[in-house]
Amino acid sequence: MKKTKIIKKTKSKTSAKKTKPWGGRFTEITNGLVEEFTASVPYDWRLYPYDIAGSIAHATMLARTGIITKNESRKIVKGLQDILREIVSGAFDFSIELEDIHMNIEDRLIRKIGPVGGKLHTARSRNDQVALDIRMYLRDEIAEIHELLGLLQNTVVGLAELHSDVVMPGYTHLQRAQPVLFGHHLLAYYEMFDRDRGRLVDCFRRVNVMPLGAGALAGTVLPIDRKFVARLLAFADVCENSIDAVSDRDFSIEFTAACAQIMMHLSRFAEELVIWSSSEFGFITIGDAFTTGSSIMPQKKNPDVAELTRGKTGRVYGSLTALLTIMKGLPLAYNRDMQEDKEPVFDAADTIRLTLSVFIEMLKNITVHRDAMRRAAEDGFITATDLADYLVQKGMPFRRAHEVVGSAVLLATNRGCGLRNVPLGEYRKLSSLISADVYDALSLEASVGRRTSYGGTAPSNLKKRLQALKKKMR
Ligand code: ARG
Repeated sequence: MKKTKIIKKTKSKTSAKKTKPWGGRFTEITNGLVEEFTASVPYDWRLYPYDIAGSIAHATMLARTGIITKNESRKIVKGLQDILREIVSGAFDFSIELEDIHMNIEDRLIRKIGPVGGKLHTARSRNDQVALDIRMYLRDEIAEIHELLGLLQNTVVGLAELHSDVVMPGYTHLQRAQPVLFGHHLLAYYEMFDRDRGRLVDCFRRVNVMPLGAGALAGTVLPIDRKFVARLLAFADVCENSIDAVSDRDFSIEFTAACAQIMMHLSRFAEELVIWSSSEFGFITIGDAFTTGSSIMPQKKNPDVAELTRGKTGRVYGSLTALLTIMKGLPLAYNRDMQEDKEPVFDAADTIRLTLSVFIEMLKNITVHRDAMRRAAEDGFITATDLADYLVQKGMPFRRAHEVVGSAVLLATNRGCGLRNVPLGEYRKLSSLISADVYDALSLEASVGRRTSYGGTAPSNLKKRLQALKKKMR
């Protein structure tokens, strides 16, 4: 759509009776501040494609069940299609006085096609209508985010393959722990994003249930056909209980929780990029197009995209907390508090989409400094576990081996050298099981290469995993 105009129309100032679809019992005009306070159209206008599609399905069902005539339904559907075009072209004036997207569209329909437009809201309430709209909106968002996560996974796999032989220090407590392949490290993120996609798929199953026909809360006396509407709108099922249908926002919470977890993963990845791109580490450089400068320090190149990824995680957590808090004290069924669900959900979805899109591009623009990674991995003690494993493979109990290696580390520290520079004679004083082959066992290649246990960092494992993933991607 071109532009969105949200305006305050000044209609009759005598009573709400004239200005509001619900004004029948009102004798006074709604207070201006109340109007501003209660309106959701400044943000829920974006539900219009779903609101209109839902209304078209509803009108079609009303004619099919004989609740309205085919001719009436045709007029309503045509009117709604025209309104859709008006909104898309930017010609539609949204009005605060009409509160929300639902009443804006309904009011316009009645103005366009006359009193027959008033039949659209038969056997329906805004309570089931809004639940329908959000569910339809979320189906699209989930599909899009799922797709973006797939692209991110492909990018991660590409990067892992390109640098599949690069060795880096693996960390625990951000202290050098054991050497690992950079590709193996990257594929850890592949797994996280895979679980994230799984959570979205799982969430989709519960989003994809049709609430319309619950009415305000109790169902309707009219002979509606909910399953028909569900089929028209491609829902897998209909909500079983009318009260639950209008009071449930679990699906929004689940979606936002899935988003929060995606952001948590992106944030950890972003944090590593920040660390790796620092001068202290120098493992990677992030391309100029994905970094920004400082207004005072000319030499600076800052990893702002990664930092904002980390920062925006807070926003999405905020949305989840807001939703949980909005819902926690609400008696059944619908309460107006629930209107506050939309902004957090929209913000979480918008934030995730933009973050994923830019993050993918940033990843494609990093340069990996394999020598710096290797130098860091050449830390003299990083293969200490390998020395212990060496002794274990020669029959020593692991706890004893741990002790022997501890003494070796102490000895090397005192000599100011690494484990590979301790003379064989010194090693043999610590254990007669150690022979000349120990030096090969302590090389980075041996350390990484021998970790062939399932899921371990060995190059042979990485190769197999990359092959399997590339087959899956095709
Ligand atoms: N704008 C409202 C919302 O988003 C729609 C439902 C209003 N229902 C009502 N009974 N006031 O929740």
